Amino acid sequence: MKLVRTSAPGKCILFGEHAVVYNHPAIAMAISLKSTCEIQECTKDKLQIILRNYNQSFEFSNLNDLVLNFPSQYNQIRFCLENLQKNFNLNLENIKITIASSLFPNSGLGSSASIAVALVSAMNEYYKLNLEREKISDIAFEMEKIVHGAPSGIDNTICTFGNMIYYETGKFRNLIIPHELKFLVSYTNTEHNTKEAIDKIKHLKNKNPKQTELLLNKIGEITREAEKELLNGNLSRIGKLMNRNQNLLTTLEVSNKAISEITTLALKKGAFGSKLTGAGLGGCVITLGKESVLNNLSSLLKTKGFKSFIINIDREGVNIEQ
Ligand code: MEV
Repeated sequence: MKLVRTSAPGKCILFGEHAVVYNHPAIAMAISLKSTCEIQECTKDKLQIILRNYNQSFEFSNLNDLVLNFPSQYNQIRFCLENLQKNFNLNLENIKITIASSLFPNSGLGSSASIAVALVSAMNEYYKLNLEREKISDIAFEMEKIVHGAPSGIDNTICTFGNMIYYETGKFRNLIIPHELKFLVSYTNTEHNTKEAIDKIKHLKNKNPKQTELLLNKIGEITREAEKELLNGNLSRIGKLMNRNQNLLTTLEVSNKAISEITTLALKKGAFGSKLTGAGLGGCVITLGKESVLNNLSSLLKTKGFKSFIINIDREGVNIEQ
């Protein structure tokens, strides 16, 4: 029986979220938490989809059946299958697709992009479509548009290529950080909503264009400075820039009470810097500090009901697992 299994990392945006939607730069890092997709040949003439995180299992007689009956919340997956079927004339009637993710959904860790990349890559491998990584990222980007409206492309890029990237107006370059950076990622216990947060800033921009553009420009400047400091390994300086970025995101109204509680506690306990990551309005906070500080902070956050974990950079990107 034919079987392929792929994995794709999640991501953290270190600097520049939201501003990146308006053509300012952003810096993102692939993280060691991943999504996986398995495609298995099955004997039944059925298209089966198993979504482990949602405890859901679906069985369709063919793609048309899926198009008509797959719940609309999974439109991303439907789009991917329809798109590949149309372009490559695939027979999708005897496969089982199993998708799982260790990333919190809707938390700013790129779970939807990570799943999209893992799925496209698994289809590519199973059907031998010979898609290059760029093409996998492009299809995942189209899938992201269905969920997020007008994403910048940063999530699908980092989940495909891994490492740390400096991203600006659709172009990106790898940042090779010559030292190990440890971050604590803390979950605020509320999902974020990328579309809502993006719409919020769009609304602010329509209402108050000059002031909003000024704030977004300042985030752009911070990101440019952060690139240098990341390469220098100046942790205290990187932390200060994170705090300034967080203040600007607060002014742009995409922070909230839980984010502020975590960032305030992090700085009080000796972290270098702490900020929301991703869209905000919930989701996750990312904190840079010495490992001992991060461990103490993590224990303290646990007593307050916030889950957190120390993350490493993922240097591989999307990967075919043996
Ligand atoms: C979402 O993870 C980050 C945003 O900047 C949107 C995007 O870049 O697509 C808010």
